[in-house]
Amino acid sequence: MPRKPLIAANWKMYKTPVQSQEFMKLFLPLVANHGRDEIVVCPSFTSISVVIAAATGSGVAVGAQNMHFADEGAFTGETSPLMLKALGATHVILGHSERRQYFAETDEIINKKLKTALQHQLIPIVCVGEVLAEREAGKTEEVLLRQTRGVLAGITASEAVPIVIAYEPVWAIGTGKTATPQLAAEAHSVIRKEVANLLGAETAANLRILYGGSVKPDNATALMNEEEIDGALVGGASLDPQSFAKIVNY
Ligand code: PGA
Repeated sequence: MPRKPLIAANWKMYKTPVQSQEFMKLFLPLVANHGRDEIVVCPSFTSISVVIAAATGSGVAVGAQNMHFADEGAFTGETSPLMLKALGATHVILGHSERRQYFAETDEIINKKLKTALQHQLIPIVCVGEVLAEREAGKTEEVLLRQTRGVLAGITASEAVPIVIAYEPVWAIGTGKTATPQLAAEAHSVIRKEVANLLGAETAANLRILYGGSVKPDNATALMNEEEIDGALVGGASLDPQSFAKIVNY
């Protein structure tokens, strides 16, 4: 079975609810007949409801950018998977490099979140990727192996079916520097091989691995043409409806 590409928008900490609604009003008609790829929009928590209301009936799914690993509890400022489910969110980004860098998320925490997401049937988009110093030191493969093992620890092949991994080289995020399609494909195959080691060939063959890091309308086609690349996680270029629609319609 071919892997259905997934294109996800990561709006980060941008857009009020009104701005989110305005985006959806302009974006949805541009992708109205799009069936080839799965499309997911991940707004801030405060915009999830309005984006879900706008997306109803459109085929566009809505996800969160983070969540806590507990169902509920005394965790001031956090959002639980049950709260996301109650709104109708279907996806959740986990372990984004900005969460790792600014909020001290480790592979261990991301692993806990991943297990909770799977328990609650939220489709996790789990991020891995090396920083510039690691790439320059020739440690990309080592980092990808460590992160892949860490985030997937204790998860079985049958549990892993819904998981989506996003390879996001940190040096390419928001910098305008994209990994070349070949470089990205190489990293994806490192991840896929390790998933085969951990969870078997079938899980690895069905696993969708997205590329993220300065994906734009003018480089989306070349990236998506790589067999190893099963979609994109788009930050900056997903904030504008025209530009995100062009990426989706690569
Ligand atoms: P970018 O962000 O497209 O702005 O580089 C990607 C991401 O952080 O997911």
